[in-house]
Amino acid sequence: MNDRIPLLIDTDPGVDDALALLMAFDDPWHEVVGLTIAAGNVGLRHTVANALKLCEVAGVDVPVYAGCASPLLHPARDAAYVHGRDGFGDTGYEPATREAAAEHAALALIRLSHEHAGRLLLVALGPLTNIALALKLDPTLPERIGRFVVMGGAVTAHGNITPAAEFNVAFDPEAAHIVFEAFARIDLADWEATVAHGFAHTGFEAWLRADSPRARFYDAISKQTREWSSDRRGDHWHSADALAMAFALEPDGALELIERPVAVELEGRHTRGATVVDWRREGGAADNCRILLRYDQARFEGRIRRALAAG
Ligand code: BDR
Ligand code: CA
Repeated sequence: MNDRIPLLIDTDPGVDDALALLMAFDDPWHEVVGLTIAAGNVGLRHTVANALKLCEVAGVDVPVYAGCASPLLHPARDAAYVHGRDGFGDTGYEPATREAAAEHAALALIRLSHEHAGRLLLVALGPLTNIALALKLDPTLPERIGRFVVMGGAVTAHGNITPAAEFNVAFDPEAAHIVFEAFARIDLADWEATVAHGFAHTGFEAWLRADSPRARFYDAISKQTREWSSDRRGDHWHSADALAMAFALEPDGALELIERPVAVELEGRHTRGATVVDWRREGGAADNCRILLRYDQARFEGRIRRALAAG
């Protein structure tokens, strides 16, 4: 019997998504059973193409399912200014030879939740549009998910796309609201945890010199983003999706977690898309999130290094 944990990743690659995917492909205890693709960092056409290309570079044959091309209700601004117009640093790479599967991401998610009922590790690295749609199609979905890890939110409202909101949630707040209401337990790796777990550009550049196709490809696609980041955020680089993936793959690397109710603001003039944490548990809602506050930095960095050097 295959006792690896089945892992389904909903993602919008994206430079930091790519690093997280390489980490997942590299992990011997998990089997990536599919990538469901969201629009977010850039448009769906590019995020699908990027996912397929990354699989090719990593030498994995994981099915890729295209999802929703836009948020549920309101159009949103993408993050091409961070990730490049194509989401992968505009390197002009040769497109992958493989194509996406015909099944819609939301339907694939529901099907895979049945095939791996009770065991599936679901990791969301992008806007939550596909998962919200799957929940509308099948509200029993959470019952079959073994564990759900989300990269999203800013738990004390130190956002990265607006003053109060983080990109993945702000891109499609309605979807995030549906998802945060539906799941009794989400393991949340937010933007503020990301900022607390930066790694030095100089060290990272050394890892990128590893003699592997993965490292060479990642060096090329992340160059623009790393330059953007060092201009604005100083000598440390931050990879939100990589931290979420480390937490997903190796939960006991978490050194500090806190459970609290979290809701998504849909209306505020300054706060639409904010993740509102009831720190004092005043509203009477159940704790629906286990928030990552601190992760073992050495384990996190070791995992990134291995993922880049592999293959
Ligand atoms: C999140 O937003 C995206 O730009 C990144 O890929 C990450 O998932 C960080 O806020
Ligand atoms: Ca992402």
